[in-house]
Amino acid sequence: MEISLTVNGEEHRLEVDTRATLLDVLRERLDLTGSKKGCDHGQCGACTILIDGMRANSCLALAVAHDGAEIVTVEGLARDGELHPLQAAFIEHDAFQCGYCTPGQICSAVGMLSELDAGWPSAVSPHLGAGRSDLTDEEIRERMSGNICRCGAYMNIVPAIADSAS
Ligand code: FES
Ligand code: FES
Repeated sequence: MEISLTVNGEEHRLEVDTRATLLDVLRERLDLTGSKKGCDHGQCGACTILIDGMRANSCLALAVAHDGAEIVTVEGLARDGELHPLQAAFIEHDAFQCGYCTPGQICSAVGMLSELDAGWPSAVSPHLGAGRSDLTDEEIRERMSGNICRCGAYMNIVPAIADSAS
């Protein structure tokens, strides 16, 4: 089936298998290998991208179900040679070891901060539907809980996200 995707600002028309996931299309057809395949089952978050501004596990997203979508991957976050503030904060805080989870962590953090700004509560938010919650460490941990780091870099990931948002 032919679909069109705007990926990191560039439009692509692609003939794809109806069973192909966005993760495989990005990595194998568009050579965007920043998004990683960890579990391929929606459990690790290594494949997190932004679909129409919302974070999503691309290993669970069928490409044909996202015809016309606007996709942003970690490769699309930097602008005019400048790293995205979250990318810079991850480097500054040494918030990774092997780096395998890092593209997903950063895309997820971008989506999570938008959700917070939009006033979406999390399971640990002190109130529901009453404006933006404070970005406490507890909020960061809960909202980022879908992104697993096998190297255990969480101690630096949390302050990196907190700093980039301050
Ligand atoms: S590879 Fe998609 S969640 Fe693990
Ligand atoms: S830095 Fe290695 S898995 Fe997170």
